[in-house]
Amino acid sequence: MTDTDKTQDRVVIFDTTLRDGEQSPGATMTHAEKLEIAALLDDMGVDIIEAGFPIASEGDFNAVSEIAKNAKTSVICGLARAQLGDIDRCWEAVKHAERPRIHTFIGTSPLHRAIPNLTKDEMAERIEQTVTHARNLCDNVQWSPMDATRTELDYLYRVVEIAIKSGATTINIPDTVGYTAPRESADLIAKLIENVPGADEVIFATHCHNDLGMATANSLAAVEAGARQIECTINGLGERAGNTALEEVVMALKVRNDIMPFRTGIDSTKIMNISRRVATVSGFPVQFNKAIVGKNAFAHESGIHQDGMLKNAETFEIMRPEDVGLTETNIVMGKHSGRAALRSKLEDLGYELGDNQLKDVFVRFKALADRKKEIYEDDLIALMRTATDAEEDRIKLTSMHVICGTEEPNRARMTLDIDGQSHSTEQTGDGPVDASFNCIKALVEHTARLQLYQVHAVTEGTDAQATVSVRMEEDGRIVTGQSADTDTVVASTRAYVHALNRLLVRREKTGSDKREVSYKDVS
Ligand code: KIV
Ligand code: ZN
Repeated sequence: MTDTDKTQDRVVIFDTTLRDGEQSPGATMTHAEKLEIAALLDDMGVDIIEAGFPIASEGDFNAVSEIAKNAKTSVICGLARAQLGDIDRCWEAVKHAERPRIHTFIGTSPLHRAIPNLTKDEMAERIEQTVTHARNLCDNVQWSPMDATRTELDYLYRVVEIAIKSGATTINIPDTVGYTAPRESADLIAKLIENVPGADEVIFATHCHNDLGMATANSLAAVEAGARQIECTINGLGERAGNTALEEVVMALKVRNDIMPFRTGIDSTKIMNISRRVATVSGFPVQFNKAIVGKNAFAHESGIHQDGMLKNAETFEIMRPEDVGLTETNIVMGKHSGRAALRSKLEDLGYELGDNQLKDVFVRFKALADRKKEIYEDDLIALMRTATDAEEDRIKLTSMHVICGTEEPNRARMTLDIDGQSHSTEQTGDGPVDASFNCIKALVEHTARLQLYQVHAVTEGTDAQATVSVRMEEDGRIVTGQSADTDTVVASTRAYVHALNRLLVRREKTGSDKREVSYKDVS
C-alpha cells in the first residue's frame, strides 16, 4: 500500500506527533526519544511520519535526517514554510528516506495573509514559486493553506488549483484553530473536490485541531466527503487542545466500518504501547477517561456493568481491550519476582530494555517491591516513566529528610551529588514539597520557572505510588521531568531533579537544540 494509493476505501494515516505534537509547549522530546517514537510509528503501519520542521533548529534537522535514514516503510515528511531556504533545508533532511515528502504551507486566511503583508496575488505567486521549487526537488509534495477553514472559499479554490498545477500531490486542508464543525468540514472537502480543476489528481487531507473537541468528528466527516488522508497525533498531542487523536480515528473506522467503510494500514494492537511511550517522553499524561487509551477506557466498575460484562463482554464493550493492545492480567509481580520475569513483563508492556537498563530498572523494582506487596502493571509503567537517563545525570539525589505536619515551619534537609561532589542544605517551605524544592534551588543555581506540578496516584491504596510530572521553563527552553515513588515528596524531588538534569543538557546544547524559528514565524 502506498501513501498515494487511490483505492476508494483506503485512508492514509499521516502522523504529526513529532512535528505538530512536539511543538506543543513542554512536549519537547530528546533526539533519542524522537527516533524511538518514529520507529514505533513506522512499525505500527503509519503511512507518513511528519518527523519535524528542519529549518527550526539543528536539533530538528538532525532528528528528521536520522529518522529518514532509519525509516523502513513509512514515508518521511518534513515541514517547510513557503520560503525557498526552508524547502531546501527540508529536502536536505528528508532526502535520506527511501520515500521522502516535502510539506510546505502558507497561511491563506485574511488574518494570516496580513502577517507577511502579502496581497492575494502576491501570495498566489509565492505559492506557485515554492510548490514548484519543492516539486523540482521531490516527487512527493504536500501543500497546506494554513487556516483553510477561515479562508474565503473563492480564494481557497484559486490557491489550491495553483498548488496542484505547480506539482503538489497532496492537498492538506488544515483547521488550524479548531474552528470548524463536522458538516462544514465535509462540505469544504466536497466543494474543493467538485470545483477545483485537477482535484481528482491529488489526495485531499484533513488536519484538525481540537479546540472545540470536534477534531475526530471533523476528520471523519472530511473522509466521508472524499478526503483520503487524516493528519493526527498519538494521544491527540498538540498545541492548545491538541490535534486529532490517531487512536480515535483508527478505532472509529475499524469499529464503525459498517457505516464508514474505510480502512487504514494501522496495526491497532500497537496503540497502547505507543500511547504510553508518547505520554512518557512528552510528559503529557493521558487523561483517565480519554477515548481508547485512557486508563478507564476499558474499566467496568459499577455492579450492573460488571454483571453484564461477566455474562457477555459485548454488553458494554464495543471493542476488545486486546484490539488496542491492552493485555488482560493486572497483578503482576512481587518481591520474589526475578530479573527474567521483570524483563518478560516489561516486554509484554512494550518496553525492550538493554542489559544495563534492565539492571537499573531491576534495582528500582526491588526497592519498590520492598515497600509495596503487590506490583501492578501500572506500577511498572510508572517505574519506566522515571528517569532512565540516570547514568548521565549531573545531579543525583543522595538523601533527603523532611519534617512536616501541623507545626510550622515545614523543613527539608537534602544532600545532592552534583558533578560528583556532595552538597547539603536545609530549607523551610510552605509544605514538604515546597521545602524540598527550596533545597534544590539553594543547591543548583537556575532561573527556571516551574510551569506545572502534577501528582497522580498510580494504583489504589495508601501504599500506591505517586507519579509526579514537572515542567519548567528557562530562557525559552522548556523541559519536563517525571518520577514515581510511594513517597510523594521523594517523587516530587526526583521529578524536579530529572527536569533540571534535562535543562543542563539543553543548556549545553544551546544553539543546536533551541528552536530558532517556529512554524508561526511567517515572513
Ligand atoms: O495547524 C496547521 O495549520 C498546521 C500547518 C502547519 C499544516 O499545523
Ligand atoms: Zn496543526
